[in-house]
Amino acid sequence: MQSFDGWMKATQGEMELALVQHLPPVALTPARLHEAMHYAVLDGGKRVRPLLVYAAGALFDADAAELARAAAAVEMIHAYSLVHDDMPCMDDDALRRGKPTVHVKYDEACALLVGDALQSQAFDVLADGGIDPVRQLAMVRLLAKASGSLGMCGGQAIDLASVGLNLSLEELEQMHRLKTGALLRVSVLLGALAGKSLSAEETQALDSYAAAIGLAFQVVDDVLDATADSATLGKTAGKDAADNKPTYVSILGLEQSRTLAEKLRNDAHRALEQFGEKARRLRELADLIVQRKA
Ligand code: IPE
Ligand code: IPE
Ligand code: MG
Ligand code: MG
Ligand code: MG
Repeated sequence: MQSFDGWMKATQGEMELALVQHLPPVALTPARLHEAMHYAVLDGGKRVRPLLVYAAGALFDADAAELARAAAAVEMIHAYSLVHDDMPCMDDDALRRGKPTVHVKYDEACALLVGDALQSQAFDVLADGGIDPVRQLAMVRLLAKASGSLGMCGGQAIDLASVGLNLSLEELEQMHRLKTGALLRVSVLLGALAGKSLSAEETQALDSYAAAIGLAFQVVDDVLDATADSATLGKTAGKDAADNKPTYVSILGLEQSRTLAEKLRNDAHRALEQFGEKARRLRELADLIVQRKA
């Protein structure tokens, strides 16, 4: 069996090719917008969401082309969310994935359009697959829900409205589950659905896994914001405290945040028990999400 690291590098390589293939070519008019879309999506990022799509796809031997499609769609939504998250009207950040943010490199109007166009492109890619149309429609709807006001956008709205507030732990968890958890959860579900229709029991187990790693991911993001440096992160460190954002670190402190991430990792592992050896990559990804240094 391939090592986790080998599998991860190979999947990230496949992902880069799939993303190039599924983005409009730069040569097409308007070339500047297409160039900025490539700038936002390619050559950077950990590709955690695509890795989750592939790892969940492995549970049910999903077709590689369909997995590439689902993974590219989720990563495009994620890249769009980062471009908008960094804009002056949101977190006002100048560094992302070790490069100047899109509105800095291009301009604000261009960054807005890059996000808009990536969102549309994601649904175009996902709707263009060759699988059973009932499953495909379910995938499109899941991605729409995870991205919209009941998912990522809703979480971002809560995040912006929470600056300077003392959120309760429940309110903080709700914000994190939406702004970050929703897209991670849908990555797992899309990967599995690319393989087959899921039973209620399978959906429930995958949902428990996804809820645990989805929350853990943002807990660790908050910890890293407070403890790592900008060069390691490829984005501005210390930004949450500077902006007075409520985070797991500001509410629970570092030690308890780390303990919570560990607990969530155990929850994630437990949720996968019924899938046996086929869930190996999902287990390893839960470990990566909690132990990552960037
Ligand atoms: C950063 O996501 C934003 C959050 C949702 C916490 P990632 O840490 O996955 O960013 P990239 O894709 O690796 O750049
Ligand atoms: C961003 O959360 C979540 C989304 C982009 C949806 P953060 O604002 O914490 O992400 P970073 O730290 O800038 O990557
Ligand atoms: Mg933000
Ligand atoms: Mg931000
Ligand atoms: Mg952050």
